[in-house]
Amino acid sequence: MIPVLEFNISARYGARAVLHGVRGSIAAGEIVSLVGLSGSGKSTLALALLRLLDYRGGSVTGTILLEGRELTTLSSKEIRAIRGRRIGYVPQSPASALNGKLKVRTLLDETWRAHRAGRPDGDFYSGLLERVQLPGTTDFVQRRSGELSTGQGQRLLIALAIMHQPALLLADEPTSALDAITQAAVLRLFEDLNRRLGTAILFISHDLLSVASLSQRVDILHEGRVVESGTPADIFLHPRHPFTRDLVAAMPRDPLPRES
Ligand SMILES: Nc1ncnc2c1ncn2[C@@H]1O[C@H](COP(=O)(O)OP(=O)(O)O)[C@@H](O)[C@H]1O
Ligand SMILES: [Mg+2]
Repeated sequence: MIPVLEFNISARYGARAVLHGVRGSIAAGEIVSLVGLSGSGKSTLALALLRLLDYRGGSVTGTILLEGRELTTLSSKEIRAIRGRRIGYVPQSPASALNGKLKVRTLLDETWRAHRAGRPDGDFYSGLLERVQLPGTTDFVQRRSGELSTGQGQRLLIALAIMHQPALLLADEPTSALDAITQAAVLRLFEDLNRRLGTAILFISHDLLSVASLSQRVDILHEGRVVESGTPADIFLHPRHPFTRDLVAAMPRDPLPRES
């Protein structure tokens, strides 16, 4: 079977190279996590895969195959027809990604109209909202997105990203703006979407511990290179690259105080 996504890319901002031949591949229904420190190139990779890096002043070389189709040579019109439909994007924080003045209903309509005409059937939005554990009520869709809690806003971003049932979800630190309990709930939501809809997920995070239970495979990104790739057990129990060893050694193991 052809992978949902297969890539091998380099990226730069002007003279500064940030990604050096980063390769990856995700099978249908798989969850792969990409873990790296801040500044290692994670968002650059996400934006490059979405063909959005130009907007940030970067450029990409290499190859990106989505469901066997080369994305790097598509026109902007062709890529717009794919982005949001075959490949969904969940950004880091609702505060910067959503226009807080717009009603939930308007955001849902705008996302619908990016790829389809008119409006969906009556129950479509409530079903979608309930799938991400938001209330599918009239009252809720009339609220402005800026009035939602961060956790609700993040769930709304996920709802918008899965509206057109993409084969692949690209999630760039989607839980880093959330408190620990909401973070755990949103991680479970990604797992649930993966299980029930079969959506493949590339989950980007700076936190190895939080993605371990979620992923079938973890790629470690260090200074713009994937230095190690394996199952979470491989990475935790037998880290090979010195950077991965440091990362694993830095994880809290026994954080609770003991009685003396
Ligand atoms: N628009 C830009 N112009 C120049 N350098 C940038 C730009 N955006 C990011 N960088 C640099 O590229 C490197 C990788 O950034 P980024 O992909 O955002 O890392 P991460 O998401 O892993 O924190 C960093 O050193 C960052 O300073
Ligand atoms: Mg980032």
